[in-house]
Amino acid sequence: MPDLMVLAAARDVAVEAALDAGRLIRFEAGRLDLAQVRSKGIHDLVTEIDERSQAIILEKILARFPDHSILAEESDQDTAGASPDWRWIIDPIDGTTNFTHGVPPYAVSIGLQYKARSVVGVVYDVSRDELFTAVAGQGAWMNGRRLRVSEADRLEDCLLTTGFPYRSFGHADTYLAVLKEFFQRAQGVRRPGSASVDLAWVAAGRFDGFFEIGLSPWDVAAGVLLVEEAGGRVSDFGAGLDPVTGGQVIASNGRIHESMASIVAPLRHMSA
Ligand code: IPD
Ligand code: CA
Repeated sequence: MPDLMVLAAARDVAVEAALDAGRLIRFEAGRLDLAQVRSKGIHDLVTEIDERSQAIILEKILARFPDHSILAEESDQDTAGASPDWRWIIDPIDGTTNFTHGVPPYAVSIGLQYKARSVVGVVYDVSRDELFTAVAGQGAWMNGRRLRVSEADRLEDCLLTTGFPYRSFGHADTYLAVLKEFFQRAQGVRRPGSASVDLAWVAAGRFDGFFEIGLSPWDVAAGVLLVEEAGGRVSDFGAGLDPVTGGQVIASNGRIHESMASIVAPLRHMSA
């Protein structure tokens, strides 16, 4: 594990970058020209603000850590020659569809991995001005308050969150059967529209559990560390995939994890 001072410095840079990008996103939120919204693929939107937000974040991070490699949603950053040990995983707006409609939440998500292990996670929910941070081994925090996952241990007492499939629909019927099971067994199921915020809210104990399939590393890299550092548990659906890169995530307070895993099991061999 890298030195704590190095990790704290990396967290501070990530926080600065997220707040700077957040200022831009907030300023532009009410002024968005819908004609400027482009589609990268089916139901996959990008705005000029995503790109400008990413430029702000990359500039800040690379000024301080020029030899770190980068995986960012809106670019193929050339990281040839960069250290393979350190990798920043960045989503400049997580919840772009919400953002384009003026619907909260939408967030900036910045994760840092060392040798493929998450060591720093920062999620800034711009729409609520809530800053979530975690450093491996040092807990998870929101606006200076320590976070702890919920204690509910029966699904019927739990509020769950998910993301609906929106890009690829090969597993839509299986997904709907899984969702139906959750509808029937949990207290409620929500779909806020930003995976990083879903994870941050599991860390904060607002939601008891989250599951989604078809995710990209930048949607979850920061959030999974928040959940783990708040005492929760993160896994794939049971296929032995890495939850950050494998495209499927269950994140929970730990107590309901096995129940959630058994319900999502029919989706475990699908990842997109
Ligand atoms: C999306 C959001 C959404 C989730 C999608 C993500 P984007 O990220 O996190 O909640 O359901 O899977 O792709 O595209 O807005 O950055
Ligand atoms: Ca995004």
